[in-house]
Amino acid sequence: MPTHDADYHLRRSPPTIAVVGATGAVGTEFLRILAEREFPVGELRLFASPRSAGKTLTFDGHDIGVEALSENGFAGADLALFSAGSGTAREWAPVAVRRGAIVVDNSSAFRMNPAVPLVVPEINAAEIARHDGILAVPNCAAIIAITPLWPIHRRNRIRRMTLATYQAASGGGAAALAELVAATRAHLAGDLYAPRVLPHPYAFNLFSHNTPIDPATGYNEEETKVIAETRKILADPGIRIGVTCVRVPVQRAHSAAITIECARPIDPGEARALIAAAPGCRIVDDPAANHFPMPNEATGIDDILVGRIRRDLSDPSGHSLSLFVAGDQLRKGAALNAVQIAEHLLP
Ligand code: A2P
Repeated sequence: MPTHDADYHLRRSPPTIAVVGATGAVGTEFLRILAEREFPVGELRLFASPRSAGKTLTFDGHDIGVEALSENGFAGADLALFSAGSGTAREWAPVAVRRGAIVVDNSSAFRMNPAVPLVVPEINAAEIARHDGILAVPNCAAIIAITPLWPIHRRNRIRRMTLATYQAASGGGAAALAELVAATRAHLAGDLYAPRVLPHPYAFNLFSHNTPIDPATGYNEEETKVIAETRKILADPGIRIGVTCVRVPVQRAHSAAITIECARPIDPGEARALIAAAPGCRIVDDPAANHFPMPNEATGIDDILVGRIRRDLSDPSGHSLSLFVAGDQLRKGAALNAVQIAEHLLP
């Protein structure tokens, strides 16, 4: 990977932007968020698999044709936003860098590479400046769980956390999202629906995350990512984490039930105030109305909703709290986080 100049910014604005995986669930969200945030866009090039070549997508009122990836496709590109899976990223991100682009990749391909910044801008934006051409967007469940924990961790170190996730279909891509809708329709109509994308019936059901289990630990790949990536983002290799990742029949917002144990005692009111003042988080914590974070209310918004902030009664020492969060998987969990990184790259 060639080293960029000491200046880590894009070489010009408005940049020529390549979106790789433009037809996917995250790719279409990239386009929406670039427009919404009025990100400066010079030329926009859209890439997907050869299956989609010739399709047209609309950006800012203009129809743009989708192309298959090619080396020449990146000629003159300044910024490449990738969300096309780790295989495609491994093959094509270095090509984009070679052609002069800075890559922000949503896949897991480069996340644990020590040379690649793994960035949640609210937490570690300073990492962006040390990129060498590629920056990685963390796993969506990790982003949504730890963005609200950071304001606590930076003042009162979280030494241990356990969490259970409730992950939406969108994390499995556009095809998983479509399967949830189709399987639910079939179920309600009394028809049989054989799962095609996910390994188990999805309508009115939930199942352990559909990634392979590591026989050495019993943890699935998603859980392993949450642990390793959280340690990297927080720059805290010693933080102890236990996690269970579950796929639930929700379209596009992940939730998580989290318990943290801090180095010093922590009061729920103090935690609530810290999170309320933190960027990217919104408190939804109304016990009288029993109104707490819900995926339907997290859908389509940028903030992660945080509530049920309470003492963990299993720890009488006062060091532990429990909370519940919900965040849009396609926005903060993926496309928004990538565009936020790109905003830091603007000259
Ligand atoms: P396509 O729609 O042509 O399959 P999702 O995460 O929603 O499944 O989307 C994945 C994105 O990655 C889609 O845009 C998909 O394009 C794209 N993609 C998948 N495989 C490749 C590939 N080999 N080359 C380029 N893009 C790919």
